[in-house]
Amino acid sequence: MIELRCVSKSFPGVKALDCVDVKFHEGEIHVILGENGAGKSTLASILYGIYLPDGGKILVDGREASISSPKAALRLGIALVSQQYALIDELTVWENLLLAGVSPRAFAAEAERLGLRLSLDGRVGDLSLGEKQRIEIVKALSRGARLLIFDEPTAVLAPREIEGLFHMMRTLKSRGVGIVLITHRIGEALAVGDRVTVLRRGRVAGQYVAGEATAETLVRAMFGKLVEAPGRARTSKGELVLSARGIHVDGVVRGIDLDIYSGEIVGIAGVVGNGQRELLEVLGGYRRPTRGTIVVGGVDLTGKSTSKFVEMGVSFIPEDRELAVAKSLTIAENLVMRSRPPIIRWGNLRRATMEVMSRLDIEAPSPETPVGRLSGGNMQKVVVGREALYLRPRVLVAIYPTRGLDYETSMRLYSIFQAIKEGGGSIVFSSEDVNELASVSDRILVMRGGKVVGEYGPGTPLERVAAAMADAN
Ligand SMILES: Nc1ncnc2c1ncn2[C@@H]1O[C@H](COP(=O)(O)OP(=O)(O)OP(=O)(O)O)[C@@H](O)[C@H]1O
Ligand SMILES: [Mg+2]
Repeated sequence: MIELRCVSKSFPGVKALDCVDVKFHEGEIHVILGENGAGKSTLASILYGIYLPDGGKILVDGREASISSPKAALRLGIALVSQQYALIDELTVWENLLLAGVSPRAFAAEAERLGLRLSLDGRVGDLSLGEKQRIEIVKALSRGARLLIFDEPTAVLAPREIEGLFHMMRTLKSRGVGIVLITHRIGEALAVGDRVTVLRRGRVAGQYVAGEATAETLVRAMFGKLVEAPGRARTSKGELVLSARGIHVDGVVRGIDLDIYSGEIVGIAGVVGNGQRELLEVLGGYRRPTRGTIVVGGVDLTGKSTSKFVEMGVSFIPEDRELAVAKSLTIAENLVMRSRPPIIRWGNLRRATMEVMSRLDIEAPSPETPVGRLSGGNMQKVVVGREALYLRPRVLVAIYPTRGLDYETSMRLYSIFQAIKEGGGSIVFSSEDVNELASVSDRILVMRGGKVVGEYGPGTPLERVAAAMADAN
C-alpha cells in the first residue's frame, strides 16, 4: 500500500530519520520497534502528514504522493489512532462523532461488522481507555482508513486491555486493513508483528518477517550490543529513614503503615487503581494525606510543602512526566529547578547536566535544549535524571519510573537504583511490570483496595504475588 524510499527528516541538531526504506502491506501488522529517540514518532508523523520529509519519496499504491496534512493522509486512507484520543469527555459518543464529521450510521455499521457493541449514548468520560481506543479505531475505519497507525498504544493500557487491542488488530488485519504498531517493547513485536522494522538513531537497523526474529536478534538490532540486567547489590538493612503511619487518602488509601530503612529497595505492586499512586504521591510529598503522619529522618513532614520534602532528601518521580517538567525551560534549568538554595553556578550546572545526559543517554544537542523539544522518552529521562541523580536523594519515591523508557535505559535506571542503595539511600517505587519489580526489589508490598495485603521477599514465586494482587486469599 505505502512505500517509503530513503525518507529523511532532520530537526535542529538531530537527524530523526536517515534514509529510511520501508513498505507497509495490507492485511499485515507491521511493528516499528526502537528505543527512545529512534525516530518512531517522526515516522508516524510523516505518514500522517504532520511533517513533510526533507528527502526521499513516498509511494501510495505505487504512485508518488505528497502527504501534506492529516486530511491528505485520510484521503489516501491513512489514519493515526492517537494516544490522546481526540474525544471530548463531557460529550456523548454520538455528539463526538458529529463534531468529528463522522456519520453515526456509518460508525454503527462499522462497529457491527467488527462485532463490537459500542453505545452511542454514553458520556465519553465514563468509558475506559480501551473503549475510547476502540471508538477511535471505528471512527477511522468509517472514514475509509485502510492503514491504521498506533504510536505506543499499550503504554497507557492495563494488561487485559492490551490483549483486547491485539485481538482487535488481528481482526482488522484479517479484513485486509494494514496496521503500523509503534512500540519499544520487544515482547509485543514478537507477539503480533507479521513484519518488524527496527529503527536505531533514525536508521533502519533490521527488518524481519514473523518467525525470523528472536528476542535476541531484536535486542541486538535495537541497541547494537546486549545489555545485562544489573545484579542486586547486597547491603544490610540500615537505620529507619521514612516512617508512615495510618495513611489515608480519601477512600483510595485506607490505613497504611510503612517503614523504609536505608539501603533497601521496596517495590509496591498492585493492579492499577488500588491506591499505589496515591500512596506514593503522599510519600513523595506531592499530595497531603487526609489522615496519617510521615516522618523522614526524625522530622515530621506531615502536611509540609514539596520543597520541605526535597530539603529532607525526598525525591519524587510522578506518574505523569508532563507534571514534572517545564517544557519551555532547558534541560539544565529543569535539573536545577527543585534545588535550593536557588543560587546557580552556570558552569557547574552545565557540567552536571552533561554528566546526567551521558549517564542516562539523553539524546539532545546540548544542555541548553528546551525540554519541550525532546521525545517523550527523553523527557522522562530528564525527570529521572533530576530526581534520581542530580538531587542525590536519600529516599527516592517513584511511580512506574520506567514507563516509556526502552529496555536499555530501564537497565541504566535500575543500576542507578542499586548505586543509590549502596550509598545508603532507599527507594520505594511501583511498576506495572511485576517481573521488573521482583528483579529489583528487596521486598515487595502488594496493595489491594487501598491496603497492603501482603509482603514478599526476594525469590517468592511470582504466582503468589500475582494471586495477592488479584483478589481474596
Ligand atoms: N519537533 C521536534 N523538534 C526537534 N527535535 C525533535 C522534534 N521531534 C523529534 N525530535 C528529535 O528527533 C529524534 C527522534 O524523535 P522521535 O520522537 O521520533 O523518537 P521516538 O522513537 O518516537 O522516541 P520515544 O520512544 O521517546 O517516543 C529525537 O532525538 C528527538 O529529540
Ligand atoms: Mg515516540
